[in-house]
Amino acid sequence: MQRNNIHLAVCADGAVTETLNALKASPATSKAKAKFVLATDGAWFETEDLDSGETIACQYPHFPDHFGFFLPLAGISTVKEIRNNAIDIKATGRLNRLYVELLKDNEDWATDARRHDMNQFMTRLIFCFFAEDTDLFKGDDLFTSTIEQMTDSRTDNTQYVIGELFRAMDMKPEDRKTANLPRWACVFPWVNGGLFAGCKEIPTFSRIARSYLLHAGRLDWKEINPDIFGSMIQAVADDSERGELGMHYTSVPNILKVLNPLFLDGLRGQLEEAGDNSRKLLNLRKRLSKIRVFDPACGSGNFLVIAYIRMREIEADIVRKRGEPVQKSWIKLEKFFGIEIKDFAVEVARLSLLIAEFQCDVRLIGQKEAKSMMLPLKHTGQIRQGNALRVNWLEVCPPVGTGVKLVSNDLFDTPLEQVEIDFENVAGETYICGNPPYLGSTWQSKEQKDDLETIFDGRVKSWKSLDYVAGWFMKAADYGIVENASAAFVSTNSICQGQQVPILWPLIFQTGHEIAFAYTSFKWANLASHNAGVTVVIIGVSKKAGATRQLFSLEGDSETVVKKTGNINTYLVPAPSIIVDSVSRSPNDRALMVWGNKPTDGGNLVVSSVERQRIISNTPEASEFIRLYFGAAEFIRGLERFCLWIEDDDLAKAVAIQEIRDRIARVKGFRLASKAAETRPASEYPHRFRQI
Ligand SMILES: C[S@@+](CC[C@H](N)C(=O)[O-])C[C@H]1O[C@@H](n2cnc3c(N)ncnc32)[C@H](O)[C@@H]1O
Repeated sequence: MQRNNIHLAVCADGAVTETLNALKASPATSKAKAKFVLATDGAWFETEDLDSGETIACQYPHFPDHFGFFLPLAGISTVKEIRNNAIDIKATGRLNRLYVELLKDNEDWATDARRHDMNQFMTRLIFCFFAEDTDLFKGDDLFTSTIEQMTDSRTDNTQYVIGELFRAMDMKPEDRKTANLPRWACVFPWVNGGLFAGCKEIPTFSRIARSYLLHAGRLDWKEINPDIFGSMIQAVADDSERGELGMHYTSVPNILKVLNPLFLDGLRGQLEEAGDNSRKLLNLRKRLSKIRVFDPACGSGNFLVIAYIRMREIEADIVRKRGEPVQKSWIKLEKFFGIEIKDFAVEVARLSLLIAEFQCDVRLIGQKEAKSMMLPLKHTGQIRQGNALRVNWLEVCPPVGTGVKLVSNDLFDTPLEQVEIDFENVAGETYICGNPPYLGSTWQSKEQKDDLETIFDGRVKSWKSLDYVAGWFMKAADYGIVENASAAFVSTNSICQGQQVPILWPLIFQTGHEIAFAYTSFKWANLASHNAGVTVVIIGVSKKAGATRQLFSLEGDSETVVKKTGNINTYLVPAPSIIVDSVSRSPNDRALMVWGNKPTDGGNLVVSSVERQRIISNTPEASEFIRLYFGAAEFIRGLERFCLWIEDDDLAKAVAIQEIRDRIARVKGFRLASKAAETRPASEYPHRFRQI
């Protein structure tokens, strides 16, 4: 038994299930607050997470495949999708060890000035691990085994060996003859695409760091999921995110709630409608090739990756139906745009898209062709590092028809050999999507408030009450004025409630956008401690919302109900667009609304449930002076609170009770000391609320 952790037992052959049941039933398990019970006879293995009720039963040798299940023992919380992907967790865990260890030996790499170099170095490693497991490098585990063989755990030549490997990968075959590369580096292909250009420095490697590098390399990276892995890997470079693996993770079903109604359903509809008509199918394929997807808070790119994969699947259907010979996809990664504030996530987003492209090619075209097309690396998604609320979106994802200068827009900010590539954006559609950060007005930093100010100041007065996510909606709507674009984001539901509605939505409507589809509030089933209690909505806005709009709601756990309606208003109700604004005076035909009871008491007339219990148990006669007290919080959240309520006639009786007497004295002192002249006279009747 490990207190607060696990109760486990080794048992006789064949007695695993009954032993697990005995552990579960044991009073010691609950007394020690064990989170898990586990039993094994060495051949069979069973365990249960006592909080979630999830269980695992497997052959004992498969135990390590399930270690994601036990992450709570390491103080790490994460969602089920991540827990179930052992390879992604292992990869993140090992990279993380390596990252931390490298920073110990290379302190300057942890500074702001060097962080980009560090992140770039880690991304190069990830690429090599992936490449050696997918036969992009010839020979099994070529990268890891070369390092293992050519370096020595007792000396410090790891840095040199990796440096030479990276130098080779940055060099065209024709330049190698005179480059004096070691023989073992020459077998590595030219990768380039900017990935190995730029900073050539390699951090120094201690013995421990070398071991961690080899451990990471020994994983089978072929199976990593560019969407899950990407979201998790943000934690590698960020101490604060480590306890909640995949803190930013938006699950694939939730990503599809955004992407399907935004544009994927439309594409599938067109595919179905085309039937076997070759010309219609070809038109759809052309349409697909012109679509641009843009996530202005892209993290490590999972919305873009999923959009890309799903579009490739539709394209594959077209190719199959038309009986076209297998050929390269027309869907180009450079049509996928993103903005992300965190440097490491940016690097990973670019790499994730390349990995997604390769995996799609393998699946849809075949391993051999995919390999031949991958190297040297070409363009990947156009991911910009920056603050999305400050960056001009029209520069990141320029209006179609204008020439786009692709300068240093390759994998890793390094100019390509081609110097600059201009390519014409033929008219198409742009879909803006994502899960931008939500942050209520009281939680925003000074910088975040300033971000909102640059967007809303001068357009609307009370912009300070807006959630941070409102900035993304506004920028998307502004972008849509210029460009043929529709947008959909996951958002906190507060922007569709109360005071934010009349501030934000009239501005959005002024740009010609309407709500094209929405998911009404649902609980964000993500990491408990981080997102506890967050209720989200999904809102799609468009200038071409159409006559029929789709309003989705989730019933129970997973059933989705969709209502077709002519209008979705800002409260996400299928009804006319009426916005409830605040007014400071009651209209003439309504009852006058005035200040209610206002204590102005320094907290001394207000009594919590606990205080009430204490006071009454000490002096039961106090109970007649303690009343239920309802404010907005009590009303909305069902909380309980009390106050002292003493009529003038009862004052003598009340002050006979010591606690009440003390409280009244403190109210008097508080009011006397008040800076507000109108409060001070109220010190004459401190047993009462100042206003009744
Ligand atoms: C909820 S996460 C979603 C990311 C990704 N879609 C996923 O599911 O992993 C929001 C992302 O926005 C980024 N972010 C926060 N503030 C930003 C800003 N001002 N500009 C650009 N990105 C920002 C965060 O770093 C984070 O990666």
